[in-house]
Amino acid sequence: MKSLRPSVASEQGFASTITLRENLLSLVEAVVDALEGHLRQRLGEQRPKPLGLATGRTMVPIYAALVARVQRWPADELEDLRQGWCSFNLDEYVGLGAADEQSFSAYMARNLGEPLQLSPQQLHLPDGEATDPQQQACRYADQLQSFGGVGVQLLGLGSNGHVGFNEPPCGPDASCRVVSLSESTRQQNAAAFGADPSKVPLKALTLGLREILEADEIHLIVTGKAKAEILKELLNSPCTDQLPASWLRPHPRVALWVDQAALNG
Ligand code: GLP
Repeated sequence: MKSLRPSVASEQGFASTITLRENLLSLVEAVVDALEGHLRQRLGEQRPKPLGLATGRTMVPIYAALVARVQRWPADELEDLRQGWCSFNLDEYVGLGAADEQSFSAYMARNLGEPLQLSPQQLHLPDGEATDPQQQACRYADQLQSFGGVGVQLLGLGSNGHVGFNEPPCGPDASCRVVSLSESTRQQNAAAFGADPSKVPLKALTLGLREILEADEIHLIVTGKAKAEILKELLNSPCTDQLPASWLRPHPRVALWVDQAALNG
């Protein structure tokens, strides 16, 4: 394992740490070690802040390993974890709801809610079926605010540098809103829609960079050689609206987790 010293990480422009692991499996375990520690810490807090969760292929092995890990906890601690669970997801497709298997709501139920026996009310997501999506975006942001904002935020990286669905160009003040998905993002996410990009919804609801940057702690996870190009750009680029993830750089507690394939292609 290689965990770059904070000083080295900051030379790369990131305020916190960059952790590199040889392969996906060991990276996933390292991320889950950190998450497990955070979840244990939360158990002792009076009013823990919600977890900020992401979807996408990157997160599938993370959630699987996290579920396996916490299922080994003593029964009383696992029960406390279940009872106290509160998470807010980043985004949802406009027009899709829990009954659509491609929705992020269904993804969260499959990957986390059902295996951990959480109630759907504990896993907050924007309502993709709301009749007024923009109003829904404002409500979702208000609801998150009423819970105190995000504590620990997990993020994946889009191939065009998006986080959540904050497509480029996007500045750090963008708040929760309805966005149009780019052609490249619809292509990137087509696998879940029978490999047909035209079936991927045109719009989505997403937390903005504003809400993401308000999280106490951010973990950006980048794996696989398909992300090598955008990761390289991210490590070498200044903060720019053209690469929304670059706005994470100055956050005081951002951890970047990468595997060798993402770093070297
Ligand atoms: C998706 C989602 C993000 C996700 C990112 C990376 O479109 N909106 O939440 O983190 O893009 O996706 P993947 O992990 O499938 O590469």
